[in-house]
Amino acid sequence: MKLWGGTFDEAPDALAYRYNASLPVDQRMWAQDVRGSQAWVRALGKAGVLAADEAAQIEAGLERVYAEFAAGSFVFAAGDEDIHTAVERRLGELIGPVAGKLHTGRSRNDQVATDFRLWVMEAEGRVLAHLRKVQAALVEQAEAHAATLLPGYTHMQRAQPITFGHWLLSHFWALERDVARWQASRAAAAVCPLGSAALAGTAYPIDRAALAADLGFTRAAENSLDAIGDRDFAAEFLFNAALLGTHLSRVAEALVIYATAEFGFVSLADAYSSGSSLMPQKKNPDVLELTRGKAGTLLGHLTGLLAMLKGLASAYDKDLQEDKAPVIAAFDALDVMLPVIAGTITTLKVYPERMAAALDAALLATELADYLVRKRVPFREAHHLVGLVIKLGPLNATPLAAMQAISPAFEADVAELWDFAAAVERRAALGGTSVASVRAQLAEAKARLAAAA
Ligand code: ARG
Repeated sequence: MKLWGGTFDEAPDALAYRYNASLPVDQRMWAQDVRGSQAWVRALGKAGVLAADEAAQIEAGLERVYAEFAAGSFVFAAGDEDIHTAVERRLGELIGPVAGKLHTGRSRNDQVATDFRLWVMEAEGRVLAHLRKVQAALVEQAEAHAATLLPGYTHMQRAQPITFGHWLLSHFWALERDVARWQASRAAAAVCPLGSAALAGTAYPIDRAALAADLGFTRAAENSLDAIGDRDFAAEFLFNAALLGTHLSRVAEALVIYATAEFGFVSLADAYSSGSSLMPQKKNPDVLELTRGKAGTLLGHLTGLLAMLKGLASAYDKDLQEDKAPVIAAFDALDVMLPVIAGTITTLKVYPERMAAALDAALLATELADYLVRKRVPFREAHHLVGLVIKLGPLNATPLAAMQAISPAFEADVAELWDFAAAVERRAALGGTSVASVRAQLAEAKARLAAAA
């Protein structure tokens, strides 16, 4: 017997039926569906809607359904339109007609909203665990390279010397903001729609606060109409995924560039590289490129969901069935992207001598301007004078006399400036690239990871 169709005279068109069915996607939520139904039947029992023995019988039957799924022995039937139908159909086969009492006072609308939230909350926990491992990989490399010098870039032009540890930790802090966002979204999702029924609320005296607590939510949704159509938790999941993807993509892009022969700052371990079918010498950073590519797909998932949601006037419309596929796809992508990026970073080979070779004296132009400032030249004028010096050739090879022809403020001690490590050490304020500042960041980063563990 189907879940609906009592008033229908014609059998469904086969293709239209398949079009409606959501089982291929929502079977991923089997555990949440069974647990949600068990909590619902307990609530019906406590409210006196079902006799205690009926509730117990249904709950035990659902446990058998759960066990079948967990063992991989659950068999779907042709008429299983979605996971809810499949679970209830099997329950009926196992315990007989009393199974028909499970859906009392409930709708698939509040059921699916509940299942999906539970699934998303669990997925968020998993993303958070993965994220911590990527951060730990960054910290480990940053520790090894707290004093390794390389050019820092803006506009992809050499700008000032920095440490590789500082660069690595810049990505740690971006991910730290992601962690805060995923945590906040997981907390915001923990509101229970069950008991909202189709749209108007359940007609049975259910203790919704107790039901919410039973399922691990922090409270029950305040308004049944809102609860049925609220997919903010899915939108937040996809925004978080899109922004996290963007962060990972930026790391990936930089490492792709740093791994070119032209830069040669890093190379990927064989385990995280791919070869070319044609060119035997190639070692390609496919995992980084895929990460950059998947970030685009993640962004698309967010856009698709928001576009789907914006036209829904009230409570449930079938459009909402399109909500799960992008969220599940985003999760599946992150579930691989994050560990692969963690492994890529952990096994990254770093070439400090190649980084050092890319440090040219022009990176110290700012030091020269600051030197003039210390000699009481206004910064604007100092900037201009240094420009004139740069035109003469490599900074550290320009004779003092030629510099003094541009400004008498240049003196013999100017030679002390041609030291990249010293330039880095001058950036000792909070958040700067000096080795001491990087070590302070490392201590803070490690404290955050330790608090999370
Ligand atoms: N498969 C549906 C979904 O994912 C479940 C809810 C169906 N509700 C309904 N009124 N047809 O949205």
